[in-house]
Amino acid sequence: MVSIGGSILVPDDNDSDYIKRLAAMLKELSEDARIAVICGGGKTARYYAGMARSLGGGDYEQDILGIEATRMNAQLLALALGDMPDEVHRTPEELASDGKRISIMGGTEPGHTTDAVTAMVAKALGATRMINATSVDGVYTSDPRKDPDARKISRMTIDELGEIVYKKHSASKSSVFDPLGVQIAKENRIDILIVDGRDLDELRNAILGKEIGGTFVDSHRGARGPPTGPAPAPRIRSARLCASPRASSWTSCGDRPSWWPWPRMRPGASSRCPRRRGPPSGSSGACGRTRPCISERSP
Ligand code: UTP
Repeated sequence: MVSIGGSILVPDDNDSDYIKRLAAMLKELSEDARIAVICGGGKTARYYAGMARSLGGGDYEQDILGIEATRMNAQLLALALGDMPDEVHRTPEELASDGKRISIMGGTEPGHTTDAVTAMVAKALGATRMINATSVDGVYTSDPRKDPDARKISRMTIDELGEIVYKKHSASKSSVFDPLGVQIAKENRIDILIVDGRDLDELRNAILGKEIGGTFVDSHRGARGPPTGPAPAPRIRSARLCASPRASSWTSCGDRPSWWPWPRMRPGASSRCPRRRGPPSGSSGACGRTRPCISERSP
């Protein structure tokens, strides 16, 4: 299970060369393992969300455009793999049943990010590990650009990650991973590896289960009790994903529980902090974003 951030796929820095090298590596590794790749929307998503907002669109419209961006990026990777489908998979269940060595998709429905989709796909495939290939090289104790004492955390439990991401957003509290993705990973004992996706050796090691330089989030240790956050509402609202026989809880539906801490992903909310939600953080000294913040992703 590999989640490739859009900031990795199309950062305007030799993009096609990177995508080619990524595709070649995935092809090689797929001889020994089934690989699923979920592509993020990156700056394309932020641009369209910003445009939608300028034109009067709300959260829903911004999410819809963000999802389209993730799917366009997924199409690019599919093309590099020599397989340009008319349409990339639209649900985790569809992907799980395609029978391919490498399966690709982007987002699913409004209200979360591809981090959560990756966890849903991991669940649908019965995977025990998901890799978040992003533009930072791991989770830090604080923002390393601002704090010279910031340290990279090489290993943490899912509950420790949960403590970061379940907290309600405030100027100084933000997170590195979609909380719905954390919740699904916790419930299904899926470990999360957060690595620098531009470093293909690091990504390869993560896929192969070798030592990584990034952060390993252990969903087995420290994940035996109830969820770290308030209990999720035991109800299912989305019909689409609930068609799966595995869909026994709200998490399968890509739906958000009543305690959901974030109103909505807000790509493009500010050029510096694309996921900022609510009023600017002002003089707090913190970046004010909802995610990522322990360490910075590229703008
Ligand atoms: P991403 O998953 O790329 O969001 O989806 P991100 O984490 O903000 O971006 P990266 O990781 O830096 O690349 C882009 C946007 O698309 C919408 C959300 O608005 C999200 O912020 N989206 C995506 C959905 O609404 N549902 C999905 O399933 C996926």
